[in-house]
Parts: sequence; structure tokens; C-alpha cells
Amino acid sequence: MVTLLIVYHSQSGNTLKMAEAAVRGAREIEGVKVILKKALETREEDLLQCDGLVLGSPEYFGYMCGALKDLFDRTYEKVRGHKRIFRKPYAVFISAGNDGQGALMNIEKICLGYQFKKVYPPVLAKGPVSEEILLRCEELGRTIAAGCEAGIY
Ligand SMILES: Cc1cc2nc3c(=O)[nH]c(=O)nc-3n(C[C@H](O)[C@H](O)[C@H](O)COP(=O)(O)O)c2cc1C
Repeated sequence: MVTLLIVYHSQSGNTLKMAEAAVRGAREIEGVKVILKKALETREEDLLQCDGLVLGSPEYFGYMCGALKDLFDRTYEKVRGHKRIFRKPYAVFISAGNDGQGALMNIEKICLGYQFKKVYPPVLAKGPVSEEILLRCEELGRTIAAGCEAGIY
């Protein structure tokens, strides 16, 4: 059984809707345990133990949310260079009012530092989360779950 960890933070519910859609997609794949966790409740063990990682953040002030940054700040030194971190497959989704590029760019930069491996294009929602965005998040979750299960990453 492989594990997919979906980490998110959400204040007004938009990123949560996207996270739940990613969970729905991922749960379609047999043999994958899907864990949904708030960034503030996620610890280094969670990052080490999962086989794939999905990170969801709203954009606040042109950057990722503080909760996700806090996760990175708390865990980087503890897991850096660990063989369970190196080239761990990951994907990102962002909820923004009208931009999202700052959050995305900075998350991807930090993920490079962890040496995670980007395996799926980011989903970036601008404004209210549409049905189309939710379908794309489902597809993201389904694809990374299937890839982890098949061991192709
Ligand atoms: C404090 C704060 C700062 C924000 N800054 C930005 C921003 O820089 N760029 C942007 O596109 N949207 C910005 N927004 C809008 C949020 O990204 C957007 O409402 C998002 O959907 C919130 O996600 P959530 O419902 O998961 O909290 C900001 C919202 C808040 C509350």
C-alpha cells in the first residue's frame, strides 16, 4: 500500500474545496492510502512516510500562506538530504483572488531545495473555485496517486 499525503491550508474554504477534490480523485485508485492534513498539523514524519505529496495553498500577499511556509520552516533541516525525501513526487495547487504566481513560484523554489520531484503541472484557481478547477484537482489527485501506485516516478 502506498501513501499519498495531501497537505493544505485554507481560511475561507477555497483551498479546502480543491484539496477535497484532489482527495476524491486519488481515492479512485486502489492500493493508495490517501491522507488529507492541514499544514499546521503536518510534521516531518508525515513528509518522510508518504510516497507522494500534494501541496495546496492560498496566495496571501503575493506569497504562499504562512501555514505552509511554517511547515517548510519546521521540517527542512530535519529531513533535508534524507533518502525518503530525495525525488519524492509532488504536485501543487493554489487558490488565489486574481494572481497566484508568487505563491506558486515560491513553493516550487522551496520544493527544489527539498529535492522533491515535480510530476504534474500546478492547478491555479483565480477567483471562486469553479467546477472545471475541481475536475482538474481531481485529475491531479488521481494521476499522482496512480503514478505512485504504479511506481513510475
Ligand atoms: C490576507 C489575504 C491576502 C491575500 N493576498 C492575495 C494576493 O496577494 N493575491 C491574490 O491573487 N489573492 C490574494 N488573496 C485572495 C486569496 O488568495 C483567495 O481569496 C483564496 O481563494 C483564499 O483561499 P482560502 O479560501 O483557501 O483561504 C488574499 C486573501 C487574504 C485573506
